[in-house]
Amino acid sequence: MASYTDKPFRKIVKEYGAGLTISELISVNSLHYNNSKALLLASRNIEETPFAIQLFGYDIDLFVESAKKIESMCDIIDINAGCPVPKVIKAKAGAYLLKEKKHLIDIVEALKKNVKKPVSVKLRMGFDAESINNIYFYKDLENAGCDMVTIHARLRNGFYSSSVDYEHIALVCSHLKIPVVANGAIDSFEKLKEVKEITHCKYFMIGQAALKKPYIFEDLINECDSIKSLDYIKKLMLKHLDLMIKEYGDYANKLFRKFAHKYLAGYKNAKLINYQINNCPNIKELFNIINSVK
Ligand SMILES: Cc1cc2nc3c(=O)[nH]c(=O)nc-3n(C[C@H](O)[C@H](O)[C@H](O)COP(=O)(O)O)c2cc1C
Repeated sequence: MASYTDKPFRKIVKEYGAGLTISELISVNSLHYNNSKALLLASRNIEETPFAIQLFGYDIDLFVESAKKIESMCDIIDINAGCPVPKVIKAKAGAYLLKEKKHLIDIVEALKKNVKKPVSVKLRMGFDAESINNIYFYKDLENAGCDMVTIHARLRNGFYSSSVDYEHIALVCSHLKIPVVANGAIDSFEKLKEVKEITHCKYFMIGQAALKKPYIFEDLINECDSIKSLDYIKKLMLKHLDLMIKEYGDYANKLFRKFAHKYLAGYKNAKLINYQINNCPNIKELFNIINSVK
């Protein structure tokens, strides 16, 4: 997830048992220019295996060039056909690719011809209500060599919170031979059971729930929904902050804010603590604020 699933965050979820971790989306145009930030986004922690790098863009040659560049840095190359952000759609990338399905299939074919690593696609169930992906499209993806498909079963204008159509995923899962990963609103073991029952999928992707509770992966493995104490959450926050300092130095003070807000959502005094964190002048003070949360 853009701006969130960086190396420190991925290290934490890996420790909690996440099976496959994925980079933030990386622009093929940035990789073309060897943009240092883009290359940094593509780097992984040693323990991240398997690890996927997600590319977004439109131009087929740039996809191939980028995939060749980053192939040795990952185990899977993932194509983003789900990002709903206006700037990305305007560049004919992300979920826009669902409006040009033949072009998306051509990207998959070109990557399969030019790289050795598996190629997967992460997509929404359609761009809009008039263009919901049909089973022939998914079959074409499979025939083009796509090795895995992750379905975020919302439309583009549903962004990250509309209701999720698990029946759509069930239909695809029953027709494809390649792994189908179900995604959307899985935020607990209880919810996972429901999604499993409807979709019959074997693989699941967790998004936003992992930001509030990175330990959700451990819960899903242990088949329970654990309740963590405030002390546990504080320790986790301090560990996360430590990892971010190692990665970003003093800048971690600013970068950690958005994570802190997620961890503390729902706690009493969260508003006040968030205010303190947003105005915190340095790392030392940030440690103090987290330690003092009651
Ligand atoms: C802040 C944010 C950033 C995201 N960035 C990406 C991204 O870079 N690539 C991607 O495939 N999906 C991205 N997503 C979508 C998630 O991967 C996921 O498909 C979506 O949130 C639905 O799953 P969830 O309901 O479990 O969160 C992002 C979502 C959010 C909220």
